[in-house]
Amino acid sequence: MKLNSYLTQKREYPLFIYARKAEELRSQGVDVINLTIGDPLDNTYPAVREATIKALQSKSNSRYPASKGEPELLQAVADWAKRNHDVSLDPKKHILSCNGSKEAIFHAAMLFDWSDGGEIFIPSLSYPVYENSAALHGVTSRYLPLSEETNFLPDLDALTESDWQKCRMFWINTPHNPTTAIASLEYLQKLVDLAEKYDFLICADECYNDIHYGATPPSILDTKQSENWILFRSLSKRSHMTGYRCGAIISHNEELMAAFGRMRAPMGQGSPTFIQAGAIEAWKDDEHPKEFTKDYLLKKQTLQKALEDKGFKIFGGEASFYLWFSHPEISESTKILDLFIEQGIVITPGTAFGPDGEGYVRMVFCVTKEVCDKTAARIGKIKI
Ligand SMILES: Cc1ncc(COP(=O)(O)O)c(C=O)c1O
Repeated sequence: MKLNSYLTQKREYPLFIYARKAEELRSQGVDVINLTIGDPLDNTYPAVREATIKALQSKSNSRYPASKGEPELLQAVADWAKRNHDVSLDPKKHILSCNGSKEAIFHAAMLFDWSDGGEIFIPSLSYPVYENSAALHGVTSRYLPLSEETNFLPDLDALTESDWQKCRMFWINTPHNPTTAIASLEYLQKLVDLAEKYDFLICADECYNDIHYGATPPSILDTKQSENWILFRSLSKRSHMTGYRCGAIISHNEELMAAFGRMRAPMGQGSPTFIQAGAIEAWKDDEHPKEFTKDYLLKKQTLQKALEDKGFKIFGGEASFYLWFSHPEISESTKILDLFIEQGIVITPGTAFGPDGEGYVRMVFCVTKEVCDKTAARIGKIKI
């Protein structure tokens, strides 16, 4: 039996390497602070838990879920889009529920025929799933360089006509993990124009869009209506529901969405019905992410000050619960990592997100206030 060559490479999911490192240190008796994974520790929005528990108690909810999403859930997503972005969506044609956005992101490459040598364009620092999916499906990934000079966004003007002709899917993650960069509306609109001109699909991953400390980050929903984008939104970060596994896939391209729905049916990807009941409450309410964000802002300020006092340079920081930073005197990510490990803090080197991450690190602050305060105190002891 010949395994898929991607699997024989035995690659470890890059973001788990440092979480494992934290566990190893803990098993050696170190009092470790693990700031590697964007998995909120604070409570889920209470209305979600209440609705989920209630739904779980009903016998009818132990049956197979609707893989496309229960009609009420899809309607709640449509209402959310109307309220927040003034976009009209037909719940039956333009929205699918997903089991968290990760699986939907991973499966998106299966929508296309790649026999013509089309490529998936990916920012050179990225959530690893875009590249993992391309590799497993045997599709060529093209890395678009990110740097401080490009404000950690792909430079659309650097690509030539023949580059664009190769593009079939273009991943844009805004606010961006790991750098926290935010694409402007003009940037997104320009990308939509390019997608229409060269007939590729913009895959917009916006799971951090509701956690912001300034103006609401633009969404692909705010650009003109187009058949050339698909949006992946998630309740994981917005409503502290990482463990529930529920998100939404949105596109005005009805043919594409129908195909995605057909593709997903045999995969068995529907979130359990009682989870969908909780998710409805999350989509119905726009206030709880704002409340969560107030807490995040305080945590961010605490850590940012501690880092800046030690000479670290923080980039962006206007959205998400990540801090992306470097130190002017240290050029290697692992050297920065070691300084933190000496204090019992594990963070993620920028290189885990791609080669352009050398010299940078990412720290999460979706932990409790106590953990943030403890982290800040330990940062104060770092010797540079
Ligand atoms: C950029 C990005 N996209 C998507 C996801 C997936 O989130 P979920 O599957 O929980 O919706 C994550 C999770 O960390 C992420 O960082």
